Amino acid sequence: MDPIAPPFPRDLGIIGAGRVGLALAALADHAQIDVAVAASRGPDAIQAQVEAAAPRARAATVEQAAGAQVVVLALPLGKVRALDPSQFDGALVIDATNYWWELDGHLAQFEDLTTSSSEQVQRLLPGARVVKALNHLSAYALEELARERGEPDRIAVAVAGDDQGDVRAVRSLVDQLGFEPVAAGALAEGMRFEPGTELFGADADVAEAREMLARFWDSQRGRVVARARREVPRP
Ligand SMILES: NC(=O)c1ccc[n+]([C@@H]2O[C@H](COP(=O)([O-])OP(=O)(O)OC[C@H]3O[C@@H](n4cnc5c(N)ncnc54)[C@H](OP(=O)(O)O)[C@@H]3O)[C@@H](O)[C@H]2O)c1
Repeated sequence: MDPIAPPFPRDLGIIGAGRVGLALAALADHAQIDVAVAASRGPDAIQAQVEAAAPRARAATVEQAAGAQVVVLALPLGKVRALDPSQFDGALVIDATNYWWELDGHLAQFEDLTTSSSEQVQRLLPGARVVKALNHLSAYALEELARERGEPDRIAVAVAGDDQGDVRAVRSLVDQLGFEPVAAGALAEGMRFEPGTELFGADADVAEAREMLARFWDSQRGRVVARARREVPRP
């Protein structure tokens, strides 16, 4: 049996009980995955919100949610630094965060064009296996545009990570949540669906998403990144 076919993951921890955290909790709950949602306020403070969004999900501590088979970061990127990295040692972590300086304040490490924001998250959580996904659709799109496998008009979710097994696992989860996973290369390539890119906020199908990812290096932002990285742009 494929070890990452459903019922993988058996449980999902979500760090953040805001727009995107609760939207993902609802999708995972619908997909029959056990969900634990955590916020800095603690479980009692978010219990009612979690129940309203996802009836079978439970409110948990960050430590409990971080112990799930797959963990999603759905908190402001600037707050990742407040997490205890040791709680994520060995965890498969999906980084659904984005750098918004308006929200996060100017954080120099996330303005470094030579690394993707998810590579910075990987540095903050060195014992975790970080995969970037579920960051480039709005919470509204996550809530409204999920479709069962086989239905028409499924939209694409890009997945970038350094370990092929972890990328496959996250692609399987994305599929169960109702979206078409699109492999987008290594974690450094997550740069291609950060804020300011063509794919960010786009309701694209798989073919369109692949084209947008490929066009990144021809975009203004792609040229600036390539120059910063002193790399030859990919064809
Ligand atoms: N909103 C979207 O459409 C969307 C879509 C895709 C990705 N994203 C990304 O997802 C992230 C969250 O966005 P959001 O709109 O969902 O934010 P939000 O509605 O403001 O929710 C943020 C959540 O993070 C929790 N949190 C903050 N600090 C924490 C900590 N130290 N430990 C645990 N939980 C903590 C907050 O709980 P407390 O109040 O208890 O601190 C709150 O539940 C951002 O990076 C954003 O770019 C957002």
